[in-house]
Amino acid sequence: MLRINILGLIVLFLFSLSSVRAAVTYDDKAIIINGNRRILISGSIHYPRSTPEMWPDIIQTAKNGGLDVIQTYVFWDGHEPSPGTYNFEGRFDIIKFIKLVQQAGLYVNLRIGPYACAEWNFGGFPVWLKYVPGIEFRTDNQPFKAAMQGFVEKIVSMMKSENLFEPQGGPIIMSQIENEYGPIEWEIGAPGKAYSAWAAKMAVGLDIGVPWIMCKQETAPDPMIDTCNGFYCEGFTPNKPYKPKMWTEVWSGWYTQFGGAIPYRPAEDLAFSVARFVQNNGSFFNYYMYHGGTNFGRTSGRFIATSYNFDAPLDEYGLPNEPKWSHLTNLHKAIKQCEPALVSSYPIVTWPGNNQEVHVFKSQSGACAAFLSNYDPTFAAKLTFQNMEYDLPPWSISILPDCKTEVYNTAKISFKGSKAKMTTVSSGFSWQSYTENTPSADDKDTLAMQNLWEQVNVTRDSSDYLWYLTQVEIASDEGFLKSGEWPLLTAMSAGHVLHVFINGRLSGTVYGSLDNPKLTYNGKVNLRAGINKISLLSVAVGLPNVGLHYETWNAGVLGPVTLSGLNEGTADLTKQTWTYKVGTKGESLKLDSIAGSSSVQWVEGSLLAKKTPLTWYKTRFDAPTGNDSLGIDMLGMTKGEIWINGESIGRHWPGYTVKGKCNDDCNYAGTFTETKCLTGCGQPSQRWYHVPRSWLKESGNMLVVFEEWGGDPSGISLVKRTA
Ligand SMILES: *[C@@H]1O[C@H](CO)[C@@H](O)[C@H](O)[C@H]1NC(C)=O
Ligand SMILES: *[C@@H]1O[C@H](CO)[C@@H](O)[C@H](O)[C@H]1NC(C)=O
Ligand SMILES: *[C@@H]1O[C@H](CO)[C@@H](O)[C@H](O)[C@H]1NC(C)=O
Repeated sequence: MLRINILGLIVLFLFSLSSVRAAVTYDDKAIIINGNRRILISGSIHYPRSTPEMWPDIIQTAKNGGLDVIQTYVFWDGHEPSPGTYNFEGRFDIIKFIKLVQQAGLYVNLRIGPYACAEWNFGGFPVWLKYVPGIEFRTDNQPFKAAMQGFVEKIVSMMKSENLFEPQGGPIIMSQIENEYGPIEWEIGAPGKAYSAWAAKMAVGLDIGVPWIMCKQETAPDPMIDTCNGFYCEGFTPNKPYKPKMWTEVWSGWYTQFGGAIPYRPAEDLAFSVARFVQNNGSFFNYYMYHGGTNFGRTSGRFIATSYNFDAPLDEYGLPNEPKWSHLTNLHKAIKQCEPALVSSYPIVTWPGNNQEVHVFKSQSGACAAFLSNYDPTFAAKLTFQNMEYDLPPWSISILPDCKTEVYNTAKISFKGSKAKMTTVSSGFSWQSYTENTPSADDKDTLAMQNLWEQVNVTRDSSDYLWYLTQVEIASDEGFLKSGEWPLLTAMSAGHVLHVFINGRLSGTVYGSLDNPKLTYNGKVNLRAGINKISLLSVAVGLPNVGLHYETWNAGVLGPVTLSGLNEGTADLTKQTWTYKVGTKGESLKLDSIAGSSSVQWVEGSLLAKKTPLTWYKTRFDAPTGNDSLGIDMLGMTKGEIWINGESIGRHWPGYTVKGKCNDDCNYAGTFTETKCLTGCGQPSQRWYHVPRSWLKESGNMLVVFEEWGGDPSGISLVKRTA
């Protein structure tokens, strides 16, 4: 008897322990944690876009900036590089990242997806998934659903076994399945509906004890919460009256593409959009991005720059992006002062004047908060509220947490300090070079086939580079040999860059852009009598991250390839024998690594190659003292990839200069779009490349740069970023 009683007591005790933490729930007003409705301020920080050594500082600065929640995607391609082989190390140590957020006292919104989009290579899908027989992405397709479920279950069970969901005492208060699926479902109809119903059911079946969201998806089935993404979301309403109004992506800026100008979003408009959302019943908002970071290695999506700065409140280097960071921090303080009124009442809205609006929240317990708005994009307003007069700049909102005192106005910036800047810390490196030859069809690791083959199918994305090699025999009686009218080579490519070599010499280069990745090379080629080697180096600059039918996406020289201006007229080279080589020679020799770099003969001094295609450069440098964030200024180089001590900094492409019109000092007032405020015209889209401190040793660091089409390394310098 006694024994049973003790057991009973233990069971009771355990039961009461677990019921201390209720599951996270929601109602029409807000997410409810431990019985309390909360106004939750959130920010996206993607763990692989910074280093584990940077995480604690970034998370702490986010907390100091007034955030309650950190949101991240889960990056499937990084975690499962080949089927069944997992990676949760280094920048992909998601468990460590989540635990650091927890230690800082913040919550997590885990967007498992597993589709991420995120301007990330292939939207976060592993490229091997494209080659699963019968697969069709993001639709009612058995092979796809099986793979997706396998990965989602893997992530959920990892989180559960580490007790990371809120009811287990962990920080995860919300999770996401799929991502921005609404537009796809709308486009493909019935199979899309069936797929999203399946995804919702599968997710709910995992029983994680916290709400699931589906962003940008009006049809999200219960109990999923549909949420809004955009520059403004005040007009959004969830699909059921009992769901809270949530904004999962407050776009804090926009991404930079190679060839594009650098977008920015004024802090006044960003704050205005958030205040507008909150005064209209919004109770959760997440900055996308709060820290954008860096697309290290080859992780960026098609034509996306290596920098993912995004004009986020924390810059790529982890430093406050002022005045944005301070201005939002003050906004968050003001909103938190209003929280008791916001979570317990609906606003009473009045219109005291033209373009003026007043929202008053009054709770039964006596809390009162008011938001005063002036929507006029040109004129300031004097607004009278409860017999007091308030000055509102154009396009702004004042926040009065006690319905009397203006503690904040979205257009009044109080930050007085200076912006972060780049300063050179060392330059004039002593460089060595090694120039590759174009490969030969007899080299080992080549593959000869009839016809032109799709690039990703051959490389499986193990490299950006694929060589297409063929040859043509020119008879000595060809007319052009006498007339000097060289034949015209035409090569059609699905993208993204094409370098044409004739008999080992670069004859021309063409490249596409994010909006137009396909390209056609059209150039006169200098052929001689006898055998001529045509070597096409096709370069993929990341794989697309958005769109339909991932299984059909192509890159590379798909043809036709023709040669015209011959005696016979035009010769079609498309169907002849082509020999393929994946990657550059330097990549196979691992010239970026200490061990690999000794496998070739480097030259220096007067022999140093300059403006020479297919050239590798190498130098050594000591780490600057101190702890400032570092970068490399790549001015003078054109296109390729950069490594430090064998770690890839990412693709560089300063040779792609921004054309078009910029607006370096754009007016914050008026509706923002991603093309409204642009800077950097006439300059490279990306000149500086982030070098994480933790990748450096005190001395003798090896910097390796691969140049595709020819640069001059003497302009490269190491810079520090300081506030
Ligand atoms: C806030 O929500 C309530 C309840 O759904 C609704 O009646 C009201 O119109 C909303 N107010 C605003 C300003 O969105
Ligand atoms: C992809 O490669 C395989 C051989 O590995 C080949 O059978 C197939 O036809 C290729 N598909 C395309 C679209 O090139
Ligand atoms: C850098 O070092 C200084 C002096 O040691 C310290 O005050 C500062 O907090 C450090 N900054 C970072 C980002 O670690």
